[in-house]
Amino acid sequence: MADLSTEFTGLKFENPFLLASAPPTESDANIIRAFEAGWGGVVTKTIGLHPVMNVKGPKTKFLRAENSGYRLSMNKRPDTTLVASWNWELISDKTIDWWLPRIEKIKKAFPEKILIASIMAGSGNDKELHNWQMLTQGVQDAGADGLELNFSCPHMDRIDMGSNVGKDKVLCSVVTMAVKDVAKVPVWVKLTPATSNIAVEAEASFRGGADGICSSNTFPSLPLIDPETLEFEMNVEGYVSSGGLGGPAIMPLSLAKMSQMTTAFPDKSFSGIGGIATFDHALSYFLLGCGTVQVCTAAMLDSAIGPNVIKTLKEGMAAFLDKNAHRGWNRLDDFRGLRRDRVVGHSQIKRPDTVDYHGGYDAEGYAVPATTVSS
Ligand SMILES: Cc1cc2nc3c(=O)[nH]c(=O)nc-3n(C[C@H](O)[C@H](O)[C@H](O)COP(=O)(O)O)c2cc1C
Repeated sequence: MADLSTEFTGLKFENPFLLASAPPTESDANIIRAFEAGWGGVVTKTIGLHPVMNVKGPKTKFLRAENSGYRLSMNKRPDTTLVASWNWELISDKTIDWWLPRIEKIKKAFPEKILIASIMAGSGNDKELHNWQMLTQGVQDAGADGLELNFSCPHMDRIDMGSNVGKDKVLCSVVTMAVKDVAKVPVWVKLTPATSNIAVEAEASFRGGADGICSSNTFPSLPLIDPETLEFEMNVEGYVSSGGLGGPAIMPLSLAKMSQMTTAFPDKSFSGIGGIATFDHALSYFLLGCGTVQVCTAAMLDSAIGPNVIKTLKEGMAAFLDKNAHRGWNRLDDFRGLRRDRVVGHSQIKRPDTVDYHGGYDAEGYAVPATTVSS
């Protein structure tokens, strides 16, 4: 049997596949089902101290494309393929007092599985920094194996919370440092992808003492407008606000973000998130240097916690290791990061000899040029 186990930020995982912080991990019942299904770890739905009330109506919908044609819509219909999830769900609406005994209960029942607590507070004053420390102490005393600091929730009006922390390199350092002052377990930082060079915020988080960085959370986005009703496909009384895009559509975007970080910090630990449903998807993140990956959208659409997704991920990795045993690849670390150095500046990509030059017009999506230059 292939060895899927791995060590990441000092924690031992039976496999590198985690459920991301989201509806699949919003309750003890879900997390227990996830561990029974075979996930190596879970990150809890983000826990905070402020009261949370979600919008009226659905919090998440799924955007699907017609299999033959261009129509994109959230209306569920046959002959379509999933493109993305779109959500405007806030962090957990359960209190810390609700979560702590449940974290304790889950860890007692599954001591070998890795339970990471996602936490979030503000950052505008000392009281908020103290809130981060209270959350840290609470969840680690309850038995959480590690922390994930949410610097990435895209739908926050408060300028000192969520992705607004992840957009400010000083806050990234200051909050991470405050948490590290009291943390006895590894601290991961989940950064927003909505900045121009995420390596800047990663550097600031590492400077604050982060043990690992996770990305991506969902990308800021709007639902489409229905051409018949002229209403946003998701709205409350006609109004919408910026929400987050996840699922297949964000994988290339998220890989680009991950590459910016793993190239800048090849020796640091990264957890890849965005669009993952199969081992082939996870492999792209591993080859860029990630030591674990996390899944949300695909799990939501698979009995809420992804029993088939985790089965496919584990079987895919076992088959990949079998196929590549002759290369001496027996574990994730044997192939992790192998394609990290292939992402280079555009000017470093080889140009053709003049005689071969067709200006890129010999590819799908381009018309044949009116006149072809020949030498
Ligand atoms: C409905 C929903 C709720 C989410 N809630 C959280 C959250 O509380 N904390 C967090 O860090 N990320 C949250 N996320 C982001 C996911 O953890 C994940 O980063 C994102 O969905 C990208 O992964 P995916 O492409 O596999 O969906 C949420 C995502 C969705 C769809």
